[in-house]
Amino acid sequence: MILSVVSKRVIHFMRKRTVEEIIPFDLRGYEALESDILSYFSDHPRFRLGHHGYSHWLSVYDNAKQLIELKRGALPDGFPLETTLLAAYLHDTGRRIPKSGTWENLHHSARSERFLREFLPLQDISWKPGQIDNICFLARAHFEVNSEVWREAQARNLYLSLQIIRDADALDRIRFFGLDESFLHLPESLSLIPYVEDKWKRLWACESRRR
Ligand SMILES: [Fe+2]
Ligand SMILES: [Fe+2]
Repeated sequence: MILSVVSKRVIHFMRKRTVEEIIPFDLRGYEALESDILSYFSDHPRFRLGHHGYSHWLSVYDNAKQLIELKRGALPDGFPLETTLLAAYLHDTGRRIPKSGTWENLHHSARSERFLREFLPLQDISWKPGQIDNICFLARAHFEVNSEVWREAQARNLYLSLQIIRDADALDRIRFFGLDESFLHLPESLSLIPYVEDKWKRLWACESRRR
């Protein structure tokens, strides 16, 4: 009897919280997209674990949300909120598991773009004109290092969106590689560091049980 009470407590303690409970994807109207992403990728061995797995996707989405909140009041008219958040969530869908001893993800952002160009039109969503194209652009641009990509972001009215996604992505490095502040574009990103450090601790406890 005592043993069963103890074991129930142990099981309760072990269960704790999941990554999805710590960082929910809560973009209204896109719940079906999230469940399609989950079923599309859930067999992928890297999906649940480590950097660039699903927790990274959710964490970057969450960082982007926090940055947008910090910038509330200073966002330009017509700021593409949903496009930015979806691109943050989906930006690394093109990553692959590196073969041992190699790091074959240099072109992952172009793969994300290709995947999303096929995946997004299949969703039962009333996309705004150009929205899919903009999400695909942001996914590709998150990892491209050239001035052309910033010019294109400007032309698409996505300059701030690209800054937010890159900063949200860079802030999540704190969990894996350590934060390099030279990667950040927005002053608000610096004030988010304590938040991402705290999130790192909560996610670490959760993810280390899955390894
Ligand atoms: Fe990436
Ligand atoms: Fe990323």
